[in-house]
Amino acid sequence: MLSKTLLPLLSLATLAVAAAPPSRRSQCSNSKYTAENLKCCVWYEILDDLQENVFDNGQCIQEAHEALRLTFHDAIGFSIKDNVKGGADGSIMAHSDIELLDVANGNIDDILNHIHPLAIKYPVSFGDFIQFTGAVGTANCKGAPRLEFLAGRSNSSVAAPPGLIPAPFQDVTTILARMADATFSPEELVALMASHSVAARDAIADPSQHARPFDTTPDAFDAQFFVETLLVGKALPTGGSTLGESPSPILGEIRLASDGLLARDPRTACEWQSFVTDHEAMNRKFKAAMAKLAVLGHDRASLHDCSEVIPMPKRGAGQQAVFPPETSIKDIEQSCKSTPFPILKITPGKQLVLPIVPSA
Ligand code: HEM
Ligand SMILES: *[C@@H]1O[C@H](CO)[C@@H](O)[C@H](O)[C@H]1NC(C)=O
Repeated sequence: MLSKTLLPLLSLATLAVAAAPPSRRSQCSNSKYTAENLKCCVWYEILDDLQENVFDNGQCIQEAHEALRLTFHDAIGFSIKDNVKGGADGSIMAHSDIELLDVANGNIDDILNHIHPLAIKYPVSFGDFIQFTGAVGTANCKGAPRLEFLAGRSNSSVAAPPGLIPAPFQDVTTILARMADATFSPEELVALMASHSVAARDAIADPSQHARPFDTTPDAFDAQFFVETLLVGKALPTGGSTLGESPSPILGEIRLASDGLLARDPRTACEWQSFVTDHEAMNRKFKAAMAKLAVLGHDRASLHDCSEVIPMPKRGAGQQAVFPPETSIKDIEQSCKSTPFPILKITPGKQLVLPIVPSA
């Protein structure tokens, strides 16, 4: 039995262990950087190069959005059913000549062309480079979570077969089955869709218009996307019919058909709606699902943690989701049966017409 005199000593000792040790940084050899883990030194060099030369000095520009999309398109080349083991292996870059033939990889060439010169400049694998670039691009968007980054993926890969990337014209059953085959639950898919809060679609029909946003705040990682996808659709932004798009509530806004369906399907609608007023849960669940996505096809234990290199994202100013001007609860197509749609502020002013998203 412990004596009474020993107890205070013990609890003091426990306290000392529990307090976080001051982070110790060491000087990297051959560079001006310091790192907590010297294995991560190279990533500080890559960070500066990316921020300066791809993300226009650390901005949440289109290249940042494309870099996040690329992490998904590389990693989702994984299938239990078809025994495809690659996952986040860099194959989309190493075998771009094959993988870019898949129509679901439309416009992926843009970001690959931007980052390939950097990926071959440093002694790191393509798989690591893609996940790192996506985590940095995401961190440039205000309100985003700071994603985990693990390094150490092998640089060898084989081309992923076509058909593994979900398409915007697919129904919810097809998309959920594909995601389940890559180990993701419907809730995890909804969390991953937070990525579409910083997203746009290249205007293929009119090349002079670079890209059209999925929500009214494409430079902020916020819940606005989860509101706007539930508003009644009024018109297609380009007036015509584009495969995989459905009418959006705001002129100039793109609604992917799949996003509209996922927002309304009984299997996903309540999780979708829950993010409208819970930015913290949206970020936490997105971060967890991204951590899983980034190591698909790998044994986590074989990688080392270089999350220390990922910049701390800026907090968003107003992270409260709102109804865009001239929309209200009356325009919400209530799809979660168990919980009423939350009360949100209506933005004053006239109906919005969204501008195209500029690129660097
Ligand atoms: C049901 C699953 C999904 C479908 C059908 C889908 C489809 C699409 C489509 C068609 C685009 C437009 C691309 C373009 O024309 O430029 C897009 C953009 C984007 N997607 Fe997805 N996506 C899905 C899931 C995801 C996931 C899981 C992520 C990331 C974790 C993601 C991240 C993005 C981002 C960031 C963009 C914006 C790219 C840009 O602005 O250039 N998507 N998505
Ligand atoms: C990774 O492989 C690609 C070819 O797929 C090559 O161009 C690149 O230099 C390799 N990187 C390293 C660090 O070996």
